[in-house]
Amino acid sequence: MTTSSPDAGSDLSGSTLTISTRINGRDETLQIAPNETLAEVLRDRLGLTGTKVSCDVQVCGACTVLVDGLPVSACTFLAYETRGRDVLTVEGLAPAPGQYHPLQQAFIELNAFQCGFCTPGMLLSAKSLLDYNPAPSTHEIKEYMEGNLCRCTGYIPILAAIGRARDIMAREASQGTGGQPADGTGTGR
Ligand code: FES
Ligand code: FES
Repeated sequence: MTTSSPDAGSDLSGSTLTISTRINGRDETLQIAPNETLAEVLRDRLGLTGTKVSCDVQVCGACTVLVDGLPVSACTFLAYETRGRDVLTVEGLAPAPGQYHPLQQAFIELNAFQCGFCTPGMLLSAKSLLDYNPAPSTHEIKEYMEGNLCRCTGYIPILAAIGRARDIMAREASQGTGGQPADGTGTGR
């Protein structure tokens, strides 16, 4: 995890920092304590409880969100490190209200979850993979998803769902219907 210090542009007065960040395509200005985690800010301040906290020590992947398109463990990632950056949580994954991202659709269709606690982190890790490698092999999917643990479904349906989403997204891309949000913010990636 990055452990950089608050930058010169942050307001260090008192015990809070003022930061500007973009969460699910929306600009947010937040007052946060320097030691507040991203998971705490997302869940407790912003009500984005789709981000789950399980192990709380960067082992299980349940809390995975994307920062500038890359997965981070929100349970240990300090919130101030998102200043000026782009955060995507599971709430911002669908391309539009009433629609599912192909990964969400495939997880539903292939029964890739039971309790669902690991699912938001799985979806976001898989999205990051498919954004950077639109045609991963099953082996590459397995390797990339190693940091996301599921304690109840087994991994076969999860891998199958990610493979199905990969194929759907490739088809959409070739047809020019990439499932991006209408406002072009990229939060539906
Ligand atoms: S809750 Fe963050 S990695 Fe487990
Ligand atoms: S679906 Fe239950 S932990 Fe993954």
